[in-house]
This record gives sequence, structure tokens and C-alpha cells, in this order.
Amino acid sequence: MIQIEQTVGTRIAGFILAGLLLPGVTFGQSIPSLKDTFKNDFGIGTALNNAQFEERDPKMTQFIVHQFNMATPENSMKSALIHPTWSNYNFEPSDKLVQFGKKHNIKINGHTLIWHSQLPPFMRGIRSADSVRTFFNDHIKTVAGRYDGKIFSWDVVNEALNEDGTMRKTVFLDYLGEDYVTEAFRLAQQASPNTELYYNDYNNEQPAKRAGCLALIKKIQAAGVRIDGVGIQGHWHVGRVPFKEIEESILQYAALGLQVMFTEVDIEVLPRNFQGAEVSQRMTANEQSNPYVNGLPDSVQQQLAADYEALFKLFLKHKDKVTRVTFWGVNDAQSWLNNWPIRGRTSYPLLFDRNNQPKPAFYRVVALKK
Ligand code: XIL
Repeated sequence: MIQIEQTVGTRIAGFILAGLLLPGVTFGQSIPSLKDTFKNDFGIGTALNNAQFEERDPKMTQFIVHQFNMATPENSMKSALIHPTWSNYNFEPSDKLVQFGKKHNIKINGHTLIWHSQLPPFMRGIRSADSVRTFFNDHIKTVAGRYDGKIFSWDVVNEALNEDGTMRKTVFLDYLGEDYVTEAFRLAQQASPNTELYYNDYNNEQPAKRAGCLALIKKIQAAGVRIDGVGIQGHWHVGRVPFKEIEESILQYAALGLQVMFTEVDIEVLPRNFQGAEVSQRMTANEQSNPYVNGLPDSVQQQLAADYEALFKLFLKHKDKVTRVTFWGVNDAQSWLNNWPIRGRTSYPLLFDRNNQPKPAFYRVVALKK
């Protein structure tokens, strides 16, 4: 009995001590906060799924609010979900997301107005430029218009480029031509004048794709249309994070007067035979494809920690240009990498484990500010 009381007493004393010594630590909440740690540097965001912004689990809500000050809906604002049939919109989930942001002081980045993936099923049957144009205009006007002044920013166009920097062949390119990206920004600006407007892509830190991305941005600017920032998604692989290209990209995008954001950061530890985040690309499972079902080996854990530390060091070095770092998910359990490009794997790409416990990578990142 006495022993138990002593243990409890020591633990309480420990919490109080931690609260006094570590910035961002309050009594009963012994994990440092990312958003507080980097409050003078850049915003810290996460992708949120519907269960999270509907606050189905109060502990999860508390955790999110403690760690993040920005959020992107993982799926709810994609056109297939927010615009399921030609004349029907489903705003309910996204309205809840906006409420969540308002209540907890979390800035919302809308994701995304124009993307070739997760399109409404009716878009598959469309065979005329007029119909594509009507969808394009109505969708941007209605969705961006509804959230004007209510969300902080939009990924206006997502993934319009190929790896070689040319324009990706999509229903929008096919029917509307190359200017559709500029057009999308023009319409978003009209519908939502109080929202920041971004172009978002993966691998746009790589030289050829980056060159295409810079050209695309210049074209928008030359047309006198507003673009405020560029998002580098940041779906990278452990031990192969392209630090040099990332730094070069920060400098080159910022030179165009744009904010630079890392919008979907995760670092894959599982085997994959290609780079990037092409959602339609799949791999076939084999005996080697899901190696860490029972836990991550220490060597990989340490490499992941080193990669995240180097990444945040770079972000801090350019904190005058980098305005936001968003993780693609709160914790490893939520990560899309458990199901892409192979279903049902056990991945470990984020800073928090499956129980929202900080991983070594988290402590290395936070220690950069000590
Ligand atoms: C992913 C989501 O995380 C998954 O839940 C969904 O099934 C597919 O899309 N690039 C993007 C994101 O811009 O929207 C994608 O999100 C991941 C790759």
C-alpha cells in the first residue's frame, strides 16, 4: 500500500516537474506539442478523417488539438465525396470540419478543388467539352464559394504534372486544354477572394517536375491571376529523402514570391519499387512486402528519426519561406500507407505510433528547438 502511494506520488511529482521544465507541456499532458514547439517558425498540420473532425473519440480530439494548428481533410472535400452526383453536393462532413477548426482554432486547408483522381462517378461518362466546362465552373464556384472566409486556404489544383514536367493527361487537359490550371485559379479567386490559393503536387521537388511546376506558376502569374503558394506533398522513403532537391525547390519556388508548404509529409519504411505518390499505381504483395507486422526494427526506427531530424533542420533553416508542414495523418494507424500501394500492410511513416505515443523521430524533431 505504502509502496503504491509512493509510486503514485513520484509520478505526480514527475508530471509537475515536466510541466515546469519542458515548454509546451502542461500538467497531465506530458508530451511536448509540435505546434507550440514550432510556433515562431511555421504552422503544423495534419490530415484529418471524418471520425477525427466529428470528434468521435474525445481522447483523439484532445491529442489533435494539443499537437496541431492546421488541418487538411484526408478525403471529405474531394469532388467524389463533396459533389457525388451532377446536381447534388454533400457539404455535411466538410461543414463539420469547418466547425471543428473554428472551435479549436485550427486553420483548414481545403483539399482539393480540381484533381483527376477521386472524381464523381458521373465524370466517367462525360464526353463533351461543354459538360466538362460546366462541371469545372459549377464545382469551383459552389464549393469554393461556400467556404469563402471560412477556410484558410485551398489546394486549387492537385497533381496536374507528369514526372518529366509536361502536363498530365486528364479529363481536364483533354477537354479544356492547357490553360485549365490558370482558369481554376481565376475561378477560385472570384468565388473565394478571402482564401489563400495553392498548387499542390508530389515529386515537384525533383528537377524535371519542378521545372514544369515553376513554368506552370509563372503562367498563372503572367495571366494576372493570384497564386499564393506551392505545396510539395512530401511522400518520401526512409533513407532516400531528397534533401538537396528539397532545399533547391524551397529557394526556387520562393524566388517566384510564393509561400512554400510541405503538405502531406510521411516517410515510408516499407518496400516499394517506385517513388512518389501516384494513387492509381499498385504493387502485388509477396512474402517480403510486409516485413514489420510485429514491430519496426531499431535500425529502421533510428534511420526514420535521423531523416525526420534532417528534414526539420532544413525546414527551420528556411523558416522565412516555409509556412506550413502538414503530416498525412495523425498517427501510424491512420496512415494511407497501410493500404497503398498494397492493401493491409503495417507501416510506420509518421511521428506518432498506433497509440499516439511519440516515436524517437518525434523527440529528435522537438529537440531541434531546445
Ligand atoms: C489519399 C487518402 O489518404 C486515402 O484515404 C484515399 O483513399 C486516397 O487518397 N496525394 C493526395 C492525397 O493528394 O489526397 C492522397 O490521399 C494521397 C496522395
